[in-house]
Amino acid sequence: MTDDITRTVQRIAAEAPGRVAAAATLEELRAVEGELLGKKGELTALKKGMGALDPEARRAAGQAMNEVRASVEAAIAARRTDLEGAARALTLAAERLDLTEAVEHRQRGSLHLVTQTMDRLVDVFVGMGFTVAEGPEVETDWYNFEALNIPAAHPARGMWDTLYVDLGDPETVLLRTHTSPVQIRVMTDGEPPIYAVMPGRVYRRDTADASHMPVFHQIEGLVVDRGISFADLAGTLEAFTSAYFGGSIHSRLRPSYFPFTEPSAEYDINCIFCEGRGCRTCGQTGWLELGGCGMVHPNVLRNVGLDAEEWTGFAFGFGLDRLALMRHGVDDIREMFTGDVRFLEQFPA
Ligand code: PHE
Repeated sequence: MTDDITRTVQRIAAEAPGRVAAAATLEELRAVEGELLGKKGELTALKKGMGALDPEARRAAGQAMNEVRASVEAAIAARRTDLEGAARALTLAAERLDLTEAVEHRQRGSLHLVTQTMDRLVDVFVGMGFTVAEGPEVETDWYNFEALNIPAAHPARGMWDTLYVDLGDPETVLLRTHTSPVQIRVMTDGEPPIYAVMPGRVYRRDTADASHMPVFHQIEGLVVDRGISFADLAGTLEAFTSAYFGGSIHSRLRPSYFPFTEPSAEYDINCIFCEGRGCRTCGQTGWLELGGCGMVHPNVLRNVGLDAEEWTGFAFGFGLDRLALMRHGVDDIREMFTGDVRFLEQFPA
């Protein structure tokens, strides 16, 4: 009898570590625990057989059983700690919130195509030594017209369909129709020599269609120094043209009229699509019209208090939106202003 109990205890002691280790989940471990230590477990069953033993043998068997029980309990506790750690790691992994993933999949914004174009144009002029200036979009009649040698009722006012602001006397405050008023501000605020470019938004009374918008963008240029000639104007625009569009694109000037420049010219460049051979975009002419330019009119210099005998200068101004549209083959200027993300995300930068 004693031998039976001893053998069983030894068997349990020998098997227990393997059985505990084989429990792959907390649930399985609980089952093994029940089998070994529980009320209906193997050790408990042994205990019941002990009543038949004499006191001496009972004490020895009891001691052996207690040792096995203690070591089995320790093995189960250790295994439980391991399994609980593994379960926690699994839960953590399953519930993990990877914020870097959210960042990777986030839609990243970019500068608007107009801003990108403006920045590139400005960069080229800054590289040529020009400074950058800005002025307000709501202007007075003085800056937008009068100071630019366009007095009230001058027929040339018809060149700009003006949007007036209901402020002060009628038709004294307006949305600037071009960036040329910034010329006046630069000459009033500073002193020659002036080499400045002035990008910005302008407004005209126009109905929106594929090639017109009541709001668009221009970049203005102004140089005032001693001995500036028309050759400087032509040379500057040619240098800009090849720097911005590449060496194969050249510029030409055609006689034109602006009240604030004399002489005045239209500034054309070789068509950037056919490089001058003639195509649909340039209407088979080989040339694209960019904007206006000319020598600053002496009246304009006088209007800002400059001595027109001492100082001469040139100015130019051209639209930015059409330039960007042509460059990217977009055929509707309204795309520039509707803010459609499907359009905008084609120009990441
Ligand atoms: N401001 C003129 C326009 O918008 C362009 C221009 C600028 C012409 C400077 C000559 C000199 O039409």
